[in-house]
Amino acid sequence: MYRTATCGELRISDVGKAVTLAGWVQRSRKLGGMTFIDLRDRYGITQLVVEADAPAELVETATGLGREFVIQVKGEVVERSSKNAKMPTGDIEIRVNTINILNKSLTPPFTIEDQSDGGEDLRAKYRYLDLRRNPLKKALELRHRIAHEVRNYLDSKGFLEIETPYLIKSTPEGARDFVVPSRMNPGQFYALPQSPQTFKQLLMVAGYDRYFQIVRCFRDEDLRADRQPEFTQIDCEMSFVEQEDVLNMFEGMMRTLFKNVLNVEIANPIPRMSWYDAMDNYGSDKPDIRFGMTIHEITSLAQGHGFGVFDGVPYVGAIAVPGAAEYTRKQLDELTEWVKRPQVGAKGLVYIKLNPDGTVKSSVDKFFSEEDLKAIAAAVEAKIGDLVLVLCGEKRKTQTQLGVLRLEMGGRLGLRKPDEFAPLWIVDFPLLEWSEEDGRFYAMHHPFTAPKPEHMEWFNSDKKEDLERVCANAYDFVLNGNELGGGSIRIHEAAVQERMFEVLGIGKEEADYKFGFIINAFKFGAPPHGGLAFGFDRTCALFGGQETIRDYIAFPKNNQGRDVMIDAPSLIDQVQMDELCLASTVKTDA
Ligand code: AMO
Repeated sequence: MYRTATCGELRISDVGKAVTLAGWVQRSRKLGGMTFIDLRDRYGITQLVVEADAPAELVETATGLGREFVIQVKGEVVERSSKNAKMPTGDIEIRVNTINILNKSLTPPFTIEDQSDGGEDLRAKYRYLDLRRNPLKKALELRHRIAHEVRNYLDSKGFLEIETPYLIKSTPEGARDFVVPSRMNPGQFYALPQSPQTFKQLLMVAGYDRYFQIVRCFRDEDLRADRQPEFTQIDCEMSFVEQEDVLNMFEGMMRTLFKNVLNVEIANPIPRMSWYDAMDNYGSDKPDIRFGMTIHEITSLAQGHGFGVFDGVPYVGAIAVPGAAEYTRKQLDELTEWVKRPQVGAKGLVYIKLNPDGTVKSSVDKFFSEEDLKAIAAAVEAKIGDLVLVLCGEKRKTQTQLGVLRLEMGGRLGLRKPDEFAPLWIVDFPLLEWSEEDGRFYAMHHPFTAPKPEHMEWFNSDKKEDLERVCANAYDFVLNGNELGGGSIRIHEAAVQERMFEVLGIGKEEADYKFGFIINAFKFGAPPHGGLAFGFDRTCALFGGQETIRDYIAFPKNNQGRDVMIDAPSLIDQVQMDELCLASTVKTDA
């Protein structure tokens, strides 16, 4: 037997036992002839001691141990003279009588501690060493726990977990596809699924009325802290449901996860907000409602005072930052530069300070009387001591900028607490989104989302303004300013699906080529259905109090989409290229 106990297990009640442990040397130190070794495994750390009067050979072996050596030790559990209350095993140590080196280790390139000295790139290259660290171990344990709870909950509600294929047909719409060449079909390609969307709908047509899958999805898009090229969804679909049924089912799932994993009671019911209110009041379709500071339109109050910047735009909006009237000139200049950064994109920033002594100070004093400024402050619900920040321009763009500024100020004021959870459903999304650049509509969610039945007339109209008004029974689950999940009630009639492709400018031939299988399936008795998918990595990260998903994935990619540990993507040799009938136009040395 390699071990009789783990390194996290032994307590004072085990004193006197003869034990065998195995694990990694976290560190070792010499103290007055004695050698102390911290032995680590997945379960914890146990202190080993080799006494000064131990056999010389044993002392020599102990002295020669390096960090991350894998050893097996035999010895007796003894009470420690100086206890360590911070460690679960801190009351005891093992008086070692045998050390067996199972494997030596090179000196690791960074310290395997909670706070490592290794930079991100180095740790990514040696991910298997990084994964030995406690924070990453905790993250993967949390991921396992959540997956387990999801399966329990959905199983208890009669959902079947069904796998769908990874080698599918390329139908780019949304993100770019990753494609895979087919050797047996020269010149042809599979695509990796961006989500199992069409397959889960086909399962509904097949009569599997409650489906779920914890499934890998692949999207070739620009990466961010909360985006990976391959990520995991909790993907779900139900038949014979309306929006209300779907929301209730998954509100229940989220409530259960919060309760069972974090012992947190979330709002009941989870609040709902229309997409339009979210944009108008928070400048975001994923508002962080842990704090107020909502956006107010002040266009009519701001215009007509001779200030050209405000007068020449369709929208002026503002937020009141609580207690920030004390911002200095220097801080305001810095904030102005901040909103001008390309990530925010505002042209400038106007402020109104409601000083604690009752006076008002503003960057547009020249154009606005104190009364005017106070009227604006009142409209924004600012109180004495607050700082009003004003941006202007095109409506949605300005609201979005104010939304970004609101989050920044919320962060600076410490209002975005990671241990506070404010879930929210965003509902009533527009069905379509017009792209000026491409001169066409895109599906706001995806092309399988159904228009609201009461908006069918607009949906069938050819007028752009009618189509812009069509809403969908689509919904997003938002947590603390992050989109955790989204879904919709789907189209289940072939004619409506065909109309949708037409609206999206996808011609009949192209629609048949790309989506004929689903349009056809709808002709064989498709039930009304709907569903949603949660980002599993994002759920794990937010439950862990983080917004970066990388630590919640065992082997993630970096921001360039590379796995630097295995060095992928990489070139393939000419034989493989020939077999796949591929020719590269990129010149390489290989
Ligand atoms: P959607 O595209 O909104 O919906 O994706 C659902 C959820 O998946 C997560 N997510 C991601 N997580 C990490 N990295 C990414 N690159 C990434 N992209 C998305 C988000 C998102 O809310 N088929 C539909 C769902 C449906 O309608 O049922 C879909 O995929 O948390």
